[in-house]
Order: sequence, then structure tokens, then C-alpha cells
Amino acid sequence: MGKTSIILDVDTGIDDAFAVLFAAVHPEIKLLGITCVDGNTNIDNVVANTLKVLDAAQAPDIPVARGALRPLLGQSQYAEYVHGADGMGDLGISPSKRKVDSRSAVELLRDLIENSSEPVTIVPLAPLTNIALFLRSFPETAKKIHRIVLMGGSASAGNATAAAEFNVWHDPEAAAIVFQSGVPITMYGLDVFMRPGITREQANELQKSSLKTAQFGGALALAFMERLGVSPITLGDYGAVASVIRPDLFTTAMFDVVVDTSAGPARGQTIVDRRDAFLRELEPIDLEDSAKVRVTLDLDVDAVVKLWLDTIESKN
Ligand code: BDR
Ligand code: CA
Repeated sequence: MGKTSIILDVDTGIDDAFAVLFAAVHPEIKLLGITCVDGNTNIDNVVANTLKVLDAAQAPDIPVARGALRPLLGQSQYAEYVHGADGMGDLGISPSKRKVDSRSAVELLRDLIENSSEPVTIVPLAPLTNIALFLRSFPETAKKIHRIVLMGGSASAGNATAAAEFNVWHDPEAAAIVFQSGVPITMYGLDVFMRPGITREQANELQKSSLKTAQFGGALALAFMERLGVSPITLGDYGAVASVIRPDLFTTAMFDVVVDTSAGPARGQTIVDRRDAFLRELEPIDLEDSAKVRVTLDLDVDAVVKLWLDTIESKN
């Protein structure tokens, strides 16, 4: 069974944690490293949370690097109302004894890609600040990226604003750089993000498990439900990672996409040109700023949820 080499870029983040747990323990994923960026919460919390998740996954050898502490332009705007004051559900978990890597996020990305004998897929689950900085800092290494599968954007409504999804809205300039980089991009956006979820009953079962990853996943899910007052709750960012190793469970299509970097009400929107060919030819979307992007539109929800449950229940 071949493994897919990936690097995660995260703003952990409850649903980032679901994704990290999965990527750290799935036997078909070689998780080369994790880079951290501010987004859901500040960079210190993001690093601390990510190390705690790797402790729970008993994955001590995966390097974790600190990245950007604010967007390229403008100020950070955190989502602590969703993820808690510590950014990961305020569970009161003791700090990890692990150390953050001495390299910055862009340096770790460079080294992991340069040293990999296999093609590397980057999976950003957060604002794209680190990835844009990396593309600009090391363009020669960037040419070696196999593809980028990112959680961000929407071909329909937004969440941070009526038009914009949080990760793109937090740093639209960075997103525009990434989308226009020429690296093959798959966008796992809000059209699918909310759909795979677990119920309170499933989370309770996980928490009762004798396995550490399952217990941790269950506790996080319950904290998320408590905070938002809903069940089921989405597994969120995890879906993007699942789509890398199980593309057969997802439906995608190619579109021209423009990231809105204007100062108006659509700032951070991913404008996905879903018109028919006749109308697209009549009045093309802005060719200079647009990128050809593969957009995820549908998925087999039950199979994607089962994949997560089976995976985190498989490692002690
Ligand atoms: C995205 O924003 C964050 O709150 C989540 O972790 C996810 O990456 C959804 O818009
Ligand atoms: Ca995230």
C-alpha cells in the first residue's frame, strides 16, 4: 500500500485537530510535518494546540514549525467565539513537553519538500499566509510541489461574511497569491465543509474508548457541541485531508476562480465562475486575476465520516 506524503498547514482550531489526528494515524498518509499560522487563534495557541494533538495521536516525531503571526495586510481577526479562548475548546489539557522546530514555517516547508523522495501535497487548513510567503520565498522549491488541496473559499455563500469564507477572508492577498501560483489547486470549501459530522452519541462513544486518539477526538467533539449548542457537529477541515487519499468519495469540477481583494463587502470572496460555456465566452471572468481551480462540490458523507471514525479508533 503506497503512502501519500503531505504537509499540513493549520490554525488549530477544533476541526484542524480532527484533521491532524486523522493525518497522524492513517496508514496511507506520510505526514512529513505541520506548519502553524494565526487564524482561529493567535500563533502561540496554534503551536501549543498542535503539539497537544500530536501527543494525543502519539506521533512525537512529526516536526511542527511556527509561522506567520498576522496576515500579509491588515490585522488578525480570530474565531475564538467558535474555538474557545485557547482556540481548541478550552479543555484544560496540560501543555505538551515537545518542542517546536527551530526552523520557521517557510524553512520547514522548503526542507521537507527538497528532502522528499516522493511528490509532496500541501494541505492548508487555515489562512494562506504561510503558503504565500513560502511561494514567494522559495519559488524553485515551490515548483516541486505536487499539488495543494486547501480548505478555504466557497462556490456559494460565505461564513465570515455573507460573501467570504473565513480562511480566505482572513488573508485575501495571500489566497490570491496561492490561487494564481500555477501549482495545481483543489479547493475544499464551504460547499462541502459542513456536511460530514458526528453526533453527540458518536462523540460519547469515542470518549469512552480505551484508545487515546478516540478519547481525544470525542472530548473535542463534545466541547465543540457544547460551545455551539448543536449536534451533529462538522468534522470540518478533516474532509480536505480525506479528499487527498480517497478522491473516489468526492465530486469535483474545474472552474475559473478569482479571489476578491477589494476593500468592499465581497473582500475575501472566491468568485467561482459556474456559468455555462456560452455565457462564459460572452463575458469572460477577469482573465488576468483568475485561476483554473478544481472545486469540490459533493461527497459521500457517510463514507467520509466512517473513514474518520475507523481511523481514529484504530490507534492506541
Ligand atoms: C475554516 O475556518 C476555521 O474556523 C476552520 O478551522 C476552517 O479551517 C472554515 O471557514
Ligand atoms: Ca482551520
